[in-house]
Amino acid sequence: MSIEIPEGLTELLQSFTLEVLRKQPADLLEFALQYFTQLKERDLKRGAFGNDNNSAARSGKAVNFVEEAMQIDSENGEDDEEDDEEFVGNRLTDFFALCAEAFNPDEDNDDKEPKITHPKTDEQRQRLQEACKDILLFKNLEAEQMSQLLDAMFEKLVEAGEHIIDQDDDGDNFYVIERGTFDIFVKVDGVECSMGSYDNRGSFGELALMYNTGRAATIVATSAGALWCLDRLTFRRIIVKNNAKRRKTYEAFIETLPLLKSLEPSERMKVVDVLSTKVYSSGEQIISQGDTADCFYIVESGQVRITMKRNQSKKDLENGEVDIAKCSRGQYFGELALVTNKPRAASAYAVDNVKCLVMDIKAFERLLGPCMDIMKRNIANYEEQLVTLFGSQTDTEDENL
Ligand code: CMP
Repeated sequence: MSIEIPEGLTELLQSFTLEVLRKQPADLLEFALQYFTQLKERDLKRGAFGNDNNSAARSGKAVNFVEEAMQIDSENGEDDEEDDEEFVGNRLTDFFALCAEAFNPDEDNDDKEPKITHPKTDEQRQRLQEACKDILLFKNLEAEQMSQLLDAMFEKLVEAGEHIIDQDDDGDNFYVIERGTFDIFVKVDGVECSMGSYDNRGSFGELALMYNTGRAATIVATSAGALWCLDRLTFRRIIVKNNAKRRKTYEAFIETLPLLKSLEPSERMKVVDVLSTKVYSSGEQIISQGDTADCFYIVESGQVRITMKRNQSKKDLENGEVDIAKCSRGQYFGELALVTNKPRAASAYAVDNVKCLVMDIKAFERLLGPCMDIMKRNIANYEEQLVTLFGSQTDTEDENL
């Protein structure tokens, strides 16, 4: 009995395999779904334009490389064969460069890798250090890694309206904001949706570099500003390698957290990639009631005391702070203000020496959507707690719940 291999199957699978090797997706199934959906959409479009013979699916050409290169050239009306070959050649060179870059993060290549340095004045270095001091991705680096990273960063001045990143492009740099405001847009079902903004602080552009995927969002400057850029290779050599170590350290702990149960294993790993570790000594304040919120916390060790100020306008109430909860290993806090978009409703203090895993607000919004039901259930419990403690909610100073 002979089995007939359908026409185009080999090419189709080869193209898909090339894309997987190039992009190294964390979730292979999800990637396959997107890849073949895109392929089908292109196929349908071509059919609609009466160009069915070029069907990518039927000819089995790669979605992003050879086929795309030819498509761009033919759209430009350039059918010179030599040019085509050169262009395709360049795309393939890019492809092999990307493959070569997909190093094993466990391997110690430090001595072999060329170190990139952009000379800076003392004044520039000081501004750079100031811009980077709260960047969570940099928090767990050793001094030498941090110094290499600062050496490699370079300044970029931007104008209002400038597109810093366009969704689906390949990732070139990671960006730290020194000053300026930036809008975030993500295409949902082909429609561009606003996903918030950055206001004179923060960083973006890490995802495409971490996961070797296209850009997940478009970032547009809404004012003149200044960015510090870190090239892809240095980012991968230092940050991605560091993340691989952290995955090993935190994988088991993260698996045990009830809050993250609804996430896929690959999504849980993405959570590990964005968590940084912060240490607090006994009695130290972690969160202050009334402050603007920008982080979410998971307790790794030690105990955290959550307190709330009582209504200071009521003369019959004590003007102090009341303990409302305790959090220990595996428990989280700091989510309420992020979910409600309000100032911190309570304060948090380290009872003893405390180690927390900290996630910034943008990563929280991006990654913890599937955990929102659990969080909201717990938030409803806070209200009951407050009624028990303070009588009725109106007796508390806090209106954030
Ligand atoms: P990257 O995909 O490399 O480039 C676009 C960046 O936008 C992305 O990394 C994140 O740093 C940032 N970003 C901010 N909000 C979002 C969001 N909701 N979804 C995806 N990316 C986002």
